[in-house]
Amino acid sequence: MSGVVHSVANIFRPLSTPAESIYSLSILVLAVCLVIFAVVAAILIYTLFRFRRPPGDFDREPPQVYGSNQIEIAWTVIPVLIVVVLSMATARVISEVQNKLPPADALQVTVVGHQWWWEIRYPAFGVLTANELHVPVSTADRPQTTLLRLESVDVAHSFWVPQLAGKTDLIPNHPNTMWIEPKVEGTFVGNCAEFCGLQHANMLLRVIVEAPADFDRWIASQQRPAERGHPDERLFMSLSCVSCHAVSGTPATGIFGPDLSHVMSRQTLGAGVMPNTFENLRRWIREPQSVKPGNLMPNMQLSDRELDQVQAYLASLK
Ligand code: CUA
Repeated sequence: MSGVVHSVANIFRPLSTPAESIYSLSILVLAVCLVIFAVVAAILIYTLFRFRRPPGDFDREPPQVYGSNQIEIAWTVIPVLIVVVLSMATARVISEVQNKLPPADALQVTVVGHQWWWEIRYPAFGVLTANELHVPVSTADRPQTTLLRLESVDVAHSFWVPQLAGKTDLIPNHPNTMWIEPKVEGTFVGNCAEFCGLQHANMLLRVIVEAPADFDRWIASQQRPAERGHPDERLFMSLSCVSCHAVSGTPATGIFGPDLSHVMSRQTLGAGVMPNTFENLRRWIREPQSVKPGNLMPNMQLSDRELDQVQAYLASLK
């Protein structure tokens, strides 16, 4: 199972290609910079002590040096070589990451950025969910690449799960692609990495990497039509919630907000702002603007009784 939560989004602990190649490149760059820093600092400190003004020497100018071919060649050639090495290494990683042709059996997922949540579609399976991307783990005997198509319906966002891959922007009217190949099961946290408005910081994302059998089970559970016949379903369908949210098989077909067909199967509410519990569900419906100020869900001004009913109905959507 995917019980492990990798809660610290640590770029120094990559657990997927391409995050691994980005990590090795950054270690090379860091090492080169450290050597440069050490050499410059050593020469500076040596100079500070070696060329201090001797005691009693007030008005004599130090010897002036006008040009030295050896030194000038050295400080031109060495930095040029360093820059060439670093740009070659960078170009190699960039082409490795961007030009890789995904295998034919890659899992295709479409991620659509919204202010401020993630719509996630699996076109091949007819599955639609939000804020939690489930993917199968990639192992040596069963490699599995996931290809993400990134879109946006409003402003520019950026998909970033540090332990899995680098950032890629979601641009309106310009689909981007990126791929991940996670090697370890567990839940990986990520976030939007491009300022996209008031709740940019609360546009959180989870990638749940699971064994292929668990992934298949999850897909099957999401493909089921939503639970029908709950006593409070009628009330919910009469509210304007349905103009923004969809529940499969019902008159609720809104597309502005997250799909609610299996809302209780998700770990968080409001794109990661709080755990998805029965109590938090009520809080979210009652005062979405105090939980996540500025988000596009208005306060519906429900009576306590309606609140009970909506809460009970949504809790039945497993
Ligand atoms: Cu979406 Cu920042």
